[in-house]
Amino acid sequence: MGILEVKNVNKRFGGLQALSDVNLSIAENTVHAIIGPNGAGKSTLLNCLVGKLIPDTGSVMFDGQSVLGRAPYEINQMGISRVFQTPEIFGDLTVLENMLIPCFAKRDGSFEMNALTSVTSQKDVLAKAEHMLEEMNMADKRHMHSASMSRGDKRRLEIGMCLSQEPRLLLLDEPTAGMARADTNNTIDLLKQIKSERDITIAIIEHDMHVVFSLAERITVLAQGTPLVEDTPDKIKGHPKVREAYLGESA
Ligand SMILES: Nc1ncnc2c1ncn2[C@@H]1O[C@H](COP(=O)(O)OP(=O)(O)O)[C@@H](O)[C@H]1O
Ligand SMILES: [Mg+2]
Repeated sequence: MGILEVKNVNKRFGGLQALSDVNLSIAENTVHAIIGPNGAGKSTLLNCLVGKLIPDTGSVMFDGQSVLGRAPYEINQMGISRVFQTPEIFGDLTVLENMLIPCFAKRDGSFEMNALTSVTSQKDVLAKAEHMLEEMNMADKRHMHSASMSRGDKRRLEIGMCLSQEPRLLLLDEPTAGMARADTNNTIDLLKQIKSERDITIAIIEHDMHVVFSLAERITVLAQGTPLVEDTPDKIKGHPKVREAYLGESA
């Protein structure tokens, strides 16, 4: 049993079958990549995993509990954190101020009032935020205006903000989209570091094969809303069906 189990998921948008009988099992403490051409249904699947979309049929279970129909704060409380395609940070705030927000918040989305009123708790929260920035190798940027950072640093901050909630499953939708190569490589290194330092499962949707093959231990290839193959990176690389789905080459 994986930590995340998707069974017989179907999702239609009007006349379009976006997901068709999707079965997917993500093993605990692995990096699992979901790849496939544009329009394959990757983001739709991810939205089903975080309860944002409810499939027409099928189930999505995280650690034995259904995620379907749950509010975002409940998903967070279950231990699932999601990084969006565009970094979700406050550009007007400094790096440290951004990091303080999730450090003050409890997992259910409410704020720890003690932390706001008691000086000891304030110190704890500040220490936690500073510690997270160190872990993200961003301590020297703590007073920088977030808007002025590179896309890679914004992504780094956002990932750190997610991790401060100590998720068991981190979901990333094309985290390196629109990044320069140096920023992409930094993001790869960061995710490798995170994986080596904590017990965490990472599910990543990615179109950049360099990122996929640098990180993934398992790969699922989606095409037209259906998983075509699921295997290890070595097996996926030479798979004729993958070349067909990806490059339009016939097998
Ligand atoms: N909310 C929606 N309403 C209608 N069609 C949608 C919606 N979301 C996605 N689609 C369609 O579903 C298909 C899969 O989309 P998506 O999951 O975004 O693909 P991917 O992320 O793999 O590029 C596409 O054809 C897309 O146009
Ligand atoms: Mg997408």
